[in-house]
Amino acid sequence: MSSVTKPSKQKRTFLCQDCGHTSPKWDGRCPACGAWGTYAEFSESKSQAVPAAARRPPRIEAVPVIAPLADQPGGDEPRIDCGMGEVDRLLGGGVVPGSVMLLAGDPGIGKSTLLLQIAARVAEAGSKVLYVSGEESGAQVRMRGTRIGAHSPLLLFADETNVDAIVSLLDGERPGLAVVDSVQTLYCERTQSGAGSVAQVRDCAQILLGWAKSRGVPLFLAGHVTKDGNIAGPRLLEHMVDVVLYMDGDELGNYRMLRCTKNRFGSTNDVALLEMRGDGLAEVSDPSAALIAERQPGVPGSAIIVTLEGSRPLLSEVQALTNPSAYSPPRRTANGVDFNRMAMLSAVLSRRSRLALGNQDIMVNVPGGLKVGEPAADLGLALAIASSYLDVPLDPRTVFLGEVGLNGEVRRIPQIERRLAEASRHGFKTAMVPRNSAGRLGEAPGIRVVAVDSLAGAMAECGLSRRTPSPGQEP
Ligand code: TYD
Ligand code: MG
Repeated sequence: MSSVTKPSKQKRTFLCQDCGHTSPKWDGRCPACGAWGTYAEFSESKSQAVPAAARRPPRIEAVPVIAPLADQPGGDEPRIDCGMGEVDRLLGGGVVPGSVMLLAGDPGIGKSTLLLQIAARVAEAGSKVLYVSGEESGAQVRMRGTRIGAHSPLLLFADETNVDAIVSLLDGERPGLAVVDSVQTLYCERTQSGAGSVAQVRDCAQILLGWAKSRGVPLFLAGHVTKDGNIAGPRLLEHMVDVVLYMDGDELGNYRMLRCTKNRFGSTNDVALLEMRGDGLAEVSDPSAALIAERQPGVPGSAIIVTLEGSRPLLSEVQALTNPSAYSPPRRTANGVDFNRMAMLSAVLSRRSRLALGNQDIMVNVPGGLKVGEPAADLGLALAIASSYLDVPLDPRTVFLGEVGLNGEVRRIPQIERRLAEASRHGFKTAMVPRNSAGRLGEAPGIRVVAVDSLAGAMAECGLSRRTPSPGQEP
């Protein structure tokens, strides 16, 4: 008798869309992750007594059979083309049937857009696709679908957050591809904690994973990450899923970088560049050319660098602007580069090269919304700041490569040949590189190499050693 379920009552919860923290009352700022305006109401019907039988996870037909490894399925089933060449390449040649892929990224970066695009292309190619959204209504998703041109009748939609209901929908429809957006909004009645909590995310993902594996249907899961990327979800999911894709970029810029950090069916460390347009995400086939297309050669404060994104070399522009400060302390802003790195390089320029930057506002920007995290960008960044301060442009056909240390020394960087090849392919004539890396260069790299061992030496090579700042720069 004790297992009789009492009538369920509706429980109101507020869920932080960033980190999955739940609270019984609305708050403007999430107390767990500090994000503003991320609380959304979430209703779950919570039974006061859950029958014991319901607490057990559903049985997924998996019959344990022992057989020689050589007799196991070969895994050579054809992969599914997801209709975007760059994404297929990133996945190692398309989607593997039965695989579970996690697409993680900050809220608003474009996860739902990419997943709906993939769903639409697969449906257009003739497979049934079920897109389940726990975040948005049919009307909202349809609006996005209209923008990106998703019209196939084979693209089915459901708005549902109960994972068991999703599994029965999937079993009823038997699609060729399933998309669940996002994993933080799901809940399982057998898990005794709020939606978005670590336990819920884990259990719901486990149930969907079991379904995908047993039915051989590929599944995309969307997941939010916070700035530190480790609360209530995607980090924990990384161990469970087959493929992890991260989408990042500046939300206000157009470019999105899609990185593959785990892939059981292909190589990792690869990236694809996508561009957010009015009609969804477009592939960028020559990212380097796109990233430097709009630069203005001959303007002070601009330097071209070559960074490595995964194993792919990418050209990009770093811009700096210095201006006498009206306030004390002066303002420093960094877009696309690490703020502390910029502050360190400014200090090195002040101390080692005696540029009087102490009373200057310094703004640094990487146009296009790309995030440059590599120390190899240091030399270009430091020279861009010096170039703006001294009002002397850098040679527009030179690329600048090297890490800068606190003593102003230019230190070696990895994979210099690949970077030089990329620069040469895009018509650059000269590369300024660390002396220690230059010594290791083998064959003539098709580009003139200028080896430097200090920032001061690099500045002298660029005609920046004059310590006469432009008019108005002197205190
Ligand atoms: P979305 O996919 O909803 O992000 P996420 O699922 O990661 O939270 O994308 C949100 C942003 O993308 C939104 O600011 C609008 C923009 N967008 C475009 O610029 N063009 C488009 O065609 C679409 C569909 C969205
Ligand atoms: Mg979304």
